[in-house]
Amino acid sequence: MSGFSPEWLALREPYDLRARCPAVLDAVVASLKGCPSVMITDIACGTGSTLRALAPRLGPVQNWRLADNDLSLLARASTMARPAGVTVKPVPLDLTRDLEAVLDGPVDLITTSALLDLVSDSWLERLTVEVAARSIPVYAALSYDGRIEITPGDPFDAAIVKAVNEHQRTDKGFGPALGPAAGHAAIARFEALGYTVVNGTSDWVIGPNERDIQMEIFAGWAGAAREIGDLSLADTVAWLTRRRDAVAAGRSSIRVGHVDVFARPKGKR
Ligand SMILES: C[S@@+](CC[C@H](N)C(=O)[O-])C[C@H]1O[C@@H](n2cnc3c(N)ncnc32)[C@H](O)[C@@H]1O
Repeated sequence: MSGFSPEWLALREPYDLRARCPAVLDAVVASLKGCPSVMITDIACGTGSTLRALAPRLGPVQNWRLADNDLSLLARASTMARPAGVTVKPVPLDLTRDLEAVLDGPVDLITTSALLDLVSDSWLERLTVEVAARSIPVYAALSYDGRIEITPGDPFDAAIVKAVNEHQRTDKGFGPALGPAAGHAAIARFEALGYTVVNGTSDWVIGPNERDIQMEIFAGWAGAAREIGDLSLADTVAWLTRRRDAVAAGRSSIRVGHVDVFARPKGKR
């Protein structure tokens, strides 16, 4: 499964939903409480997981603009089942080129998930400066933060994790990616712009019976390690084989660290 394939996004969505930090989500919901209708723009929406996570917690009239540069994901997002009163407008757009276009107009909240670890520091600066200029609150969930725990341990885990974190910092289309530094960089940038920030961890905690996602994660990490190239092919394959055996035997569990952030301009709820 590729990084943004609909199959991968569907596989990870329940784990993302379970992981979202409740305190951050509560702060987002509280900030919109009592609004008769809300206008929300979700950037890098994929198939619409943030809408599915947030919409049931918000008021009855919600207008969502869903922005992504992948037309096939956007088509799925715009045809998803959703509660009455929730409208969706797909916005096909490349965030590296046309970010500002999607921030203009009346917007009560910008949301995103699993995006900030893909972007560069300069793109993050552009996002934070542009939203601050418009006084828009931002809910950015599920930024990978570099923490990985695998049980049972394996002698090659440290080398694989090092390679994964190095791969995280390679260019994903926005320039050199922030990778594990993204969450904390976002908090620092929003605070420097006078925002109030609520943040918390949103780790994937994946148990021994959750085999399909573990198989995909381990395969993805082995692929990342191959691209970085510090570990030999033989060692990488041997590691992946031991990991797959442990998953198949129901002996494997993993925790993957993420950070959720809700940043709002001071003075706004
Ligand atoms: C990891 S996925 C997250 C999708 C969704 N937010 C979720 O949590 O399921 C990253 C998303 O960013 C989108 N994306 C990547 N680069 C983009 C760009 N330059 N402009 C717009 N969207 C982009 C991808 O198409 C994909 O939907």
